[in-house]
Amino acid sequence: SAAEKGGYDYFMLKEIAEQPQAIADTLLGRLKENGEIVLDEVRLSDQDLRDADKIFIVACGTSYHAGMVAKYAIEHWTRIPCEVELASEFRYRDPVLDRSTLVVAISQSGETMDTLMALRHAKEQKARVLAICNTNGSTIPRESDAVLYTHGGPEVAVASTKAFLTQVVACYLIGLHLAQVRGIKYADEVAAVVDQLQEMPDKLRELLAGIEPVRELARELKAAPTVLFIGRHVGFPVALEGALKLKELAYMHAEGFAAGELKHGPISLIDQGTPVVCIVPSPAGRGMLHDKIVSNIQEIRARGARTIVIAEQGDEAVTPYADHLIYVPRTPTLLAPLVTTVPLQVLACEIAAARGHDVDQPRNLAKSVTVE
Ligand code: G6P
Repeated sequence: SAAEKGGYDYFMLKEIAEQPQAIADTLLGRLKENGEIVLDEVRLSDQDLRDADKIFIVACGTSYHAGMVAKYAIEHWTRIPCEVELASEFRYRDPVLDRSTLVVAISQSGETMDTLMALRHAKEQKARVLAICNTNGSTIPRESDAVLYTHGGPEVAVASTKAFLTQVVACYLIGLHLAQVRGIKYADEVAAVVDQLQEMPDKLRELLAGIEPVRELARELKAAPTVLFIGRHVGFPVALEGALKLKELAYMHAEGFAAGELKHGPISLIDQGTPVVCIVPSPAGRGMLHDKIVSNIQEIRARGARTIVIAEQGDEAVTPYADHLIYVPRTPTLLAPLVTTVPLQVLACEIAAARGHDVDQPRNLAKSVTVE
């Protein structure tokens, strides 16, 4: 009913709007004043966490994209090698697992069969399993050695939004906690990230307050035969997530690429007017990432692409190459997915609505897939 949707046309829009609160709730009680991170529901001892010499993240769908973001953060902060794997592939390739392997299973529902079977396989091989889950008492957390709940609240729309952002937050908390337990390498950076995480709900409110231009853009893109998404570093999983949302909801062909791979093949897809959504990292970030993607954008635009650029507030280097420019609040590079994903959620939702689809219940999909 309309009341259940809190005045929004779709549960998905309501859940997008709930993201600032969902993040605040997921952080609540887990960050101490002194910047220390407390994860009291993680029943693994500090010794277990110190012993971990390898991390595998397993998940499906949108949760897998959260895992891809986590890999960048966890490896950078902890220096522990971290692989991300589709749960449906994991056990079939006979992964190398033992007591000092930490497997992180990410699942909104806690009932996804592929993820459950991956975690059972990991436990049989004596790995420690930590679940990140949004559903209290569901099967995946019950069968895991430890659980960190995302406090996103119930998610009704089939396409995951607030669950994704809170999963990403939970992964940051785990990465920061592992870094602290193991003796921090980047103490100042970790402290700064903790501060930035606390500011995130306000930044998201600001972003959502200015989202109207994205809705207008959606109406312009609704008849496009394909939409491409490019990003680098943590912008790469964001590109994949933007494309997945569009496939799920709008039934459009969409694909996400690592921007550096364009020249190795996908650039041949660019035709006159092909919409390409470009996720641009902060110009303040380390390395040359920002400048590299700006040159990728120049290249595709020279070949006719219609560029939709998601960039940080104040980034003027991108303006000459953006047919549409969507600014997001400033964040440290690793936290950027919390803001850059949001316009892509709105874009997919509005394109689907403009095409006349049932946004909350897309054809052929289920909220939770309990078969392999
Ligand atoms: C289904 C849903 C997706 C979700 C995936 C994983 O395919 O349609 O939105 O990302 O399952 O679900 P989970 O509950 O394990 O996060």
